[in-house]
Amino acid sequence: MAGLDPAGYRMAPLIRRLPACLRALRVPSIAVAKDLLTRQPPKLQLAIDALLIGTSSFFRDDLVFEHLADEVIPAMVARTGKPRVWSAACSNGMELYSVAMMLADHAALSLKQLLGTDFRSEAISEAERGIYSPEAASGIPPTLAKRHLIRGKASVAVAPAIHASVRWECRDLLTDSDPGPWDMILCRNLAIYLESGVVAQLWKKLRAALAPGGVLVVGKAEKPRLNGLTQVGPCIYRKHPVE
Ligand SMILES: C[S@@+](CC[C@H](N)C(=O)[O-])C[C@H]1O[C@@H](n2cnc3c(N)ncnc32)[C@H](O)[C@@H]1O
Repeated sequence: MAGLDPAGYRMAPLIRRLPACLRALRVPSIAVAKDLLTRQPPKLQLAIDALLIGTSSFFRDDLVFEHLADEVIPAMVARTGKPRVWSAACSNGMELYSVAMMLADHAALSLKQLLGTDFRSEAISEAERGIYSPEAASGIPPTLAKRHLIRGKASVAVAPAIHASVRWECRDLLTDSDPGPWDMILCRNLAIYLESGVVAQLWKKLRAALAPGGVLVVGKAEKPRLNGLTQVGPCIYRKHPVE
């Protein structure tokens, strides 16, 4: 894969995505795909976009977002004013816009304060647009939806203040350097697709990118077991403050 090291990924999920990859390339077989990609390397991006799984949703995992809303965000805002938040492997942006809406309700949001990154350019373009289907937006709690969404005929857009609070970048999380320190990093539902050695390196890298006392939020099936990180809520780990 162009720029991505496929050795870092678990084989089974990649194999499950092969039919989608062939459909995206409009070829009937792996042999034809190989030939096409050799002749037209720019098509590799299409193949990668189809191989990586980008499922996401607003306020995904109720328990996690309840804990963020009730405990983590109020304390973080009290401590830092305007917390710096990075959604690493952000997919279509729904995850980070969810956090932005919660911060806006604490008057803790400013221009370009948050960062969303993903390897797939297609996902970053969707995040940048900030326009979603009404069905996708139905996961947003009604009080937040009322304040932070603009409803069109067939779509909804995140409100300008929410939109302007985020910058989006295409990055390979496994090889690119981190732009820390962050008060909160969300890295959810990527590690499940990676080989265990790569996952261990990823957690170390994210721990290093957190500010002392900052929190790492992971997916339901992910458990970073690292010195210096203590679980403080469902899927939420706090980096120890400097002694
Ligand atoms: C299942 S989605 C998770 C989205 C969101 N974090 C959530 O939990 O709702 C996983 C994302 O990881 C991205 N991804 C996979 N490998 C990556 C890499 N090496 N660098 C950056 N993003 C990557 C994929 O493109 C995909 O958008």
